[in-house]
Amino acid sequence: MEQVLVTGGGGFLGKALVKKLMERDYAVTSFSRHHHKTLAQMGVPQISGDLTDAAAVKQAVEGMQTVFHVAAKPGVWGPYETYHAVNVTGTEHVIAACLAQGVKRLIYSSSPSVVFDGSDMENADESIPYPKSYLAPYPETKAAAEKLVRQAGQQGLDVIILRPHLIWGPADNHLLPGILKRAKRLRIVGRTDDRMDTIYVDNAALAHVLAAQKLKENSSLSGNIYFISQDDPVSKWEMVNAFLDAAGLPPVRRRVSARTAYAAGWCFEKIYHLLGINSEPPMTRFVAKELATSHWFDITRAKNDLGYVPEISTQEGLRRLKEWLSRNR
Ligand SMILES: NC(=O)c1ccc[n+]([C@@H]2O[C@H](COP(=O)([O-])OP(=O)(O)OC[C@H]3O[C@@H](n4cnc5c(N)ncnc54)[C@H](OP(=O)(O)O)[C@@H]3O)[C@@H](O)[C@H]2O)c1
Repeated sequence: MEQVLVTGGGGFLGKALVKKLMERDYAVTSFSRHHHKTLAQMGVPQISGDLTDAAAVKQAVEGMQTVFHVAAKPGVWGPYETYHAVNVTGTEHVIAACLAQGVKRLIYSSSPSVVFDGSDMENADESIPYPKSYLAPYPETKAAAEKLVRQAGQQGLDVIILRPHLIWGPADNHLLPGILKRAKRLRIVGRTDDRMDTIYVDNAALAHVLAAQKLKENSSLSGNIYFISQDDPVSKWEMVNAFLDAAGLPPVRRRVSARTAYAAGWCFEKIYHLLGINSEPPMTRFVAKELATSHWFDITRAKNDLGYVPEISTQEGLRRLKEWLSRNR
């Protein structure tokens, strides 16, 4: 049995990945700060530690053949240093640990936001460059981590970087709660015909497993980056409405211009900084730009190199989400 470590195995994507790896007979261990009851129920060994603790990370990867580095500090708000500590320094620790302990492969969960420059990304492929600046610490630090992982690919560690776009599904703890929390004040930002691609959580997990398998078979894939998605770009606001519908809530109809949303984001950021408010503002410049633009990707490379084909369709995913929400909301 191949020994694998999943950092953040108790998180949204991490849990789905752990499950998929177990179905495929990998011996999975999870590394994260807290003990996760669901993982314990699944019989998954858990190592408690923080990515910012180099020694703890080094100890955790001992004896592993593959590491899936999934853990990160996600979000759209907060001090740069807190994102840097987890997303950049934490990734440095994972890489150093892999190199020191002779780990063969590292699969890194990145994000398409690393290449988002505030404009539309339509049918974008992996040749799209990093932007010169970022509107939030999350994409900036994820991009820095991606670059470190790519460098590690030249130091004897086989690496693959995956960029899943907007992961959703049952137990989603980011995208869906964010939409549902704001349901009453939600506005269509900018155009109504924007398109976006997303990825159902089990499909994202599948892509991670395939990446590890293919990298084992063919180390020349090392250093590659892959966008992964449903391969099914949909109207952004229809998708938001489908999420609301799954939760039994009415669709969003009111509109606001992209310019107004951006200006509101700018004002909120200034006020929150000035007053030292830690909670997330109702709007930020990054979120305004995300909401007002199209994001969908050409995933030909993932299909060709990894054999990735989404197993769960958007429609089936929504059905499962609705069922889960009816039991858990
Ligand atoms: N969700 C999305 O839409 C999306 C989209 C694109 C990319 N991604 C990427 O996918 C990955 C997983 O995201 P997710 O949505 O599953 O996030 P998540 O549910 O928040 O899971 C992240 C996990 O990382 C662990 N973690 C956080 N800080 C840590 C630290 N300092 N040391 C050790 N463990 C730490 C947390 O567990 P503990 O609290 O137990 O430490 C948490 O369970 C991330 O790399 C994210 O950037 C997500």
